[in-house]
Amino acid sequence: MTESVLVTRALVPEAMRALDGRCELDLYEGPPEAIPRDELLRRAAGKDGLLTLLTEKVDAELLDAAGPQLKIVANHAVGFDNIDVPACTQRGVLVTNTPDVLTEATADLAWALILASVRRVAEGDRFLRSRQPWVWGPSMMLGHDMSRKTLGIAGCGRIGGAVARRATGFGMRLIYHDPIRLPSDVEQSLGLAWVEFDTLLAESDIISIHAPLTPDTRHLFDADAFAKMKPTAVLVNTARGPIVDEPALAEALRSGQIFAAGLDVYEREPAVEEALLDLDNVTLLPHLGSATIETRTAMGLLTVENLLAGLADRRPPSLLNPEALSRR
Ligand code: DGY
Repeated sequence: MTESVLVTRALVPEAMRALDGRCELDLYEGPPEAIPRDELLRRAAGKDGLLTLLTEKVDAELLDAAGPQLKIVANHAVGFDNIDVPACTQRGVLVTNTPDVLTEATADLAWALILASVRRVAEGDRFLRSRQPWVWGPSMMLGHDMSRKTLGIAGCGRIGGAVARRATGFGMRLIYHDPIRLPSDVEQSLGLAWVEFDTLLAESDIISIHAPLTPDTRHLFDADAFAKMKPTAVLVNTARGPIVDEPALAEALRSGQIFAAGLDVYEREPAVEEALLDLDNVTLLPHLGSATIETRTAMGLLTVENLLAGLADRRPPSLLNPEALSRR
């Protein structure tokens, strides 16, 4: 019997080809917005597998709508804050994500935002496109040096570590805060020192966020946090939007409480806080962290591999809830 699968948005062609003939495919091909919730609930009914994106909320309601035959939710993202994993486990539904394959691309993009924010790259581009008259000047559009500055990593897993590795050439001091401290040999090899969160805020010239979104990290960067940062500091977020209180960030940037920010993710994604759109000292990208041809191909293929393994009652390579295996 062929297993049936709902895919909520077309993946890159190579990954779609890997699905060819391997299952009965129901592909959502609606407008560019995410699949509407009522359509998701309707089309999930009776499916053996769901291949979801970070835009779909996978909760008890969706799992119930899918039905007891559902074997696997294969998420096309490393982050899985869109999925109620305990609700899946309780129903014996496997959950997978796409770790490792996007680490380097996301770390690269964090650095793109760091440099763009510190050196006012996007602002300079916008300025020239405005066709205003200009001439080189000693005080024109000054940013900050990178060398000898302190880079703070908020949440230091795979991607945070890759961001730290890239700092070597800039001659920076590296500090991090994570509730789980890295083994000391890893700290040493990356040149990272663990600090309390308040120390990270007070001492960093640049803070790059690489924490997962959890109840503990929601609004970790709020008005209080910005008040503890240097007025020359830069904040970069390539993790999840709700870790930053966006209205509070807009106010900190507007008032000069911090120097600049670079954002790839948003609190109410895809909406962007209106106040940010009017500020020149924030660089805004549309969630491009993993958006390279190589990385999206690897993510797509890994998602399909996870999905097909789950459908065939094999253990998927990136299984998040092994306890679900014993409940099936
Ligand atoms: C993820 O994988 O969690 C990113 O946000 C999108 O690639």
